[in-house]
Amino acid sequence: MKQKIVVLTGAGISAESGIQTFRGAGGLWNGYNVMEVASIDGWHKNPKLVLDFYNLRRADAANAQPNLAHTELARLEQKYDVTIITQNVDDLHERGGSTKVLHLHGKLREARSTQNEQLVYDIGANAIELGDICEMGSQLRPNIVWFGEMVPLMETASHEVSQADIFIIVGTSLLVYPAASLVHYAPKTAQKYIIDIAPDEREMKRIPNMHVIANKASLGVSQVVEQLMNG
Ligand code: OAD
Repeated sequence: MKQKIVVLTGAGISAESGIQTFRGAGGLWNGYNVMEVASIDGWHKNPKLVLDFYNLRRADAANAQPNLAHTELARLEQKYDVTIITQNVDDLHERGGSTKVLHLHGKLREARSTQNEQLVYDIGANAIELGDICEMGSQLRPNIVWFGEMVPLMETASHEVSQADIFIIVGTSLLVYPAASLVHYAPKTAQKYIIDIAPDEREMKRIPNMHVIANKASLGVSQVVEQLMNG
């Protein structure tokens, strides 16, 4: 039986594809206040601002290309049973070749009904405008999990992590819960790697079998994948 690898990724893995991370730009995200554009309260207050913001993010993601970190993770599937759990809403893991990707915080390429969250539509790179409605007649919104909302895939994700033989974290500040808590579901015996340009070394070294690789995603992931493919 193949060994199971679970990978948790965040904005840092897409940074080298030209997609801006959340934290690190003076609290602003592409010039916007995160809580105004990525929270359920922000949506109720100013839906047009939120739609415009995600329309821009969707266009950015459609123009971006997967980088070496995405494609190297996909290569692991030749030898391992791999699940990617990403906090990212872009589709660069899928376009990089990974076949099992859980999007904890939703997907830019999907719109959903504001009345019934089961009504989800693939919209590709298209914009959502005020007045665009679902088949029941209610406004469409991005299928993104915002601050103030439940993370429906959390249970599936924590189960996946708890089954991991090898657990890899790439490019996340681990500041946003509940996603950050996934780290603690990995078995003590699992080999663990964190790849980040600015990892929280002190915190990470408290986790058993954690290898800290302070490097950018493309280089750090290539190094770990090389080791795992030859090991
Ligand atoms: P953050 O922006 O909080 O963290 C990005 C991490 O990537 C940081 O630890 C950086 O040091 C690291 N980093 C930056 N460039 C890198 C590179 N080239 N290679 C490796 N690492 C790099 O992003 P997330 O942790 O993903 O949620 O943020 C989590 C959630 O907060 C997001 O999913 C989003 C956000 O608000 C929602 O929108 C609900």
